[in-house]
Amino acid sequence: MDKIKIIGGNPLFGKIYISGAKNAALPLVCASLLTDEAVTLKNVPQLSDISFLNKLLLFLGMNIDEKHENLDTYPSMTYTYRANAISNLIAPYDFVRKMRASYYVLGPLLARFKHAELSLPGGCAIGARPIDIHLSSLEQMGASIEIKNGYVIADAPQGLKGAHIIFSKASVGATCNILMAATLAEGVTKIENAAKEPEIANLIDLLNAMGAKIEGRDTSVLTVYGVNKLHGAQLSVIPDRIEAGSYAIAAAITHGKLELINANPDFLQQPLRVLEKMGVEIQEFENSIIVNAVGKNIIGDDIYTDYYPGFPTDLQAQFMALMTVADGASLVTESIWENRFMHVPELCRMGANINIHGHASAIVRGVKKLSGAPVMATDLRASFALILAGLAAEGETIVNRVYHLDRGYECLEEKLRAVGANIERIKESDY
Ligand code: EPZ
Repeated sequence: MDKIKIIGGNPLFGKIYISGAKNAALPLVCASLLTDEAVTLKNVPQLSDISFLNKLLLFLGMNIDEKHENLDTYPSMTYTYRANAISNLIAPYDFVRKMRASYYVLGPLLARFKHAELSLPGGCAIGARPIDIHLSSLEQMGASIEIKNGYVIADAPQGLKGAHIIFSKASVGATCNILMAATLAEGVTKIENAAKEPEIANLIDLLNAMGAKIEGRDTSVLTVYGVNKLHGAQLSVIPDRIEAGSYAIAAAITHGKLELINANPDFLQQPLRVLEKMGVEIQEFENSIIVNAVGKNIIGDDIYTDYYPGFPTDLQAQFMALMTVADGASLVTESIWENRFMHVPELCRMGANINIHGHASAIVRGVKKLSGAPVMATDLRASFALILAGLAAEGETIVNRVYHLDRGYECLEEKLRAVGANIERIKESDY
């Protein structure tokens, strides 16, 4: 497995182009299953999660055309999906095991083909990650759901029916899956306590462009008026708010100054306010953000992760890395995932002073310096937190298990090297 080597201490200066959002692209790609016409998605990031999902869709019988966008920025792609020859309605274990978001095929397949089978995703490093809300909502829409041999077997021989569904949690995945399913259901579906993440608005924009009738965008009550058929459409994936937030912290932790191009500051209001409270200067523009920490004293602050527009859990680990070198103490409370402090022992190996209390809280007491070390993380965002710590640390840090980063950060080393980081990938064949 590849590793990333960082020699810390360089302040980062320059521009970083923010890619399309992984977590927006995944449901958008699956929405193309809802029609036999062409769905074209622009600004799709080149990430292993996207290539896994494309492989699953090819397995189902999807036709996929790809085209480089010829941007002088990063290698995002335009994909055209055409689900006019779907021959398989099963998402097998080998795909779902590698990429949980494979569960996004369930709603579209069931709505359009009245049957779907999905290997039940297990837990992962950050929590148990059940999909009970997805399944019970489909049952409320008239589907029969059976769990057999590790698979969800879903049937709706008469088609799905509109229903009034109240989510027990504002789940991002369930909101996307049920929205997609409801577009082709008979009658009206109302989802209460829906998630409001920008990735959901992106999906609603695509579905409406395909002929769906969805009201309530950006609110927690979504109403879907079912239609008989959807048609082709074209849309751009929104900028990745978590990637932008991650690089904002890279500027802060190295006392540098970065301009994040193609970043939407509206998606990052909570994290940007926390950065300001920590002493970082932020300038917001329509499509970019300037983060300036040159000569700034970074001060500890508290965060509490919550559903959007609350503080994103997907930036918790990265902020914790910054807090390890801030003046004073910071309190981190994780309210979304029950096991999302796996980066803590690794940060402590680099000299951080962090105490975890129970499952949900950690106190970080800032230290003067971190020191480089070989480290390993068990999930994507935790891995980026270790990259950040390595950028700030004295000496050499080796981040192992780079495949986590390849799932969610397009051209990571290239982007960081271009703004002055001393970072390189060590290929497995080279050691
Ligand atoms: C999405 O996961 C993201 N993944 C996650 O990002 C992100 O952390 C999460 O939303 C929260 O923002 C993708 O978009 C692919 P949820 P998702 O359903 O949809 C509970 C990253 O690093 N729940 O909103 O799986 C669940 O256990 C990843 O990019 C149920 O109890 O998250 C959690 O506590 C990691 N039953 C809470 O809801 C269900 O049926 C929120 O989960 C579904 C969820």
